[in-house]
Amino acid sequence: MTAASDATTDLTDLDFTAYADSRRAMVDDYLAAYMARRADGEGFDKLKEAMSYSLLGGGKRFRPVLAIAGCEAVGGDCEKVLPVAAAIEMLHTVSLIHDDLPAMDNDDLRRHRATNHKVFGEALAILAGDALITEAYLLLSAPDTAPPATAMAVIHEIAHATGLSGMAGGQSLDMLTAPDEIDEALTRQTHHAKTARFIAASAAAGALMGGADPETVAALRTFGENVGQAFQIVDDILNVTGDAARIGKSVGSDANAGKATYPAVHGLPESRRLAAEHIDAALAAVQHLGEAAEPLRAAARFVIERDR
Ligand code: IPE
Ligand code: IPE
Ligand code: MG
Ligand code: MG
Repeated sequence: MTAASDATTDLTDLDFTAYADSRRAMVDDYLAAYMARRADGEGFDKLKEAMSYSLLGGGKRFRPVLAIAGCEAVGGDCEKVLPVAAAIEMLHTVSLIHDDLPAMDNDDLRRHRATNHKVFGEALAILAGDALITEAYLLLSAPDTAPPATAMAVIHEIAHATGLSGMAGGQSLDMLTAPDEIDEALTRQTHHAKTARFIAASAAAGALMGGADPETVAALRTFGENVGQAFQIVDDILNVTGDAARIGKSVGSDANAGKATYPAVHGLPESRRLAAEHIDAALAAVQHLGEAAEPLRAAARFVIERDR
């Protein structure tokens, strides 16, 4: 019996680490196999190397694991959601490569390694991001990923969460907000757009792949929005209190750059309380789902317990 099936047989008092490890391994294998067979021998080896460096180089795989947990929560099959989970991780990886660029956060360290532009230069880092966006939609729109109506719903969900009123829009607020403009509402809106909407779309896309009805998809979206808001609040907290060796990226950079963060606006204790409040709201949104939603609930609890 595999670790994966162990994790689904006993859902009471679920060990999220074991569940996440098994699902992360599936995502990692899928992504490695995908990159290995793409555009081989076509002469784009350097770009492929830059894409693979960031895509296959670690990370918690939280969003794809959430998509899988969302699918399993509604009775769906883990194997069927894997292409969508992989596409989600591609889009997340783009956000990290571009977020680290000198024109944005100018970070040298990501996932315990040098950032993409430090290794490959800015031109290839930008292009690796561009190509990974397109690869994600190539995968989402592939005929064997999902029936056309489901694929369209998943693509719509994810595109809406990552574009103008989602991740890209949120990153623009993050970059353009001057220190004297930072307030509670703008910080909440920034976190919602840059992080929470995509995490919400990950959970909702999983539910769509599992064949959930619209009300259940909406419940998963509400769950994911709250998990996502808490996720970015905790990311802000870890930028103040975290151990750089553990989180694998720089600490203290938000304050140095004058970023709109929860600790800057609310202080640490209140930030922790607000993150916990979002997790309570997330759990309430999926309370009516059965035992199959335990991994989803465990993922939500992980967000406020994590130290990396
Ligand atoms: C970091 O995301 C960027 C945020 C939106 C906070 P993760 O903490 O999920 O990063 P990885 O994928 O584990 O490296
Ligand atoms: C990252 O925000 C958000 C996205 C990449 C969409 P941050 O800039 O706060 O994340 P880290 O701390 O660099 O991972
Ligand atoms: Mg940033
Ligand atoms: Mg950053």
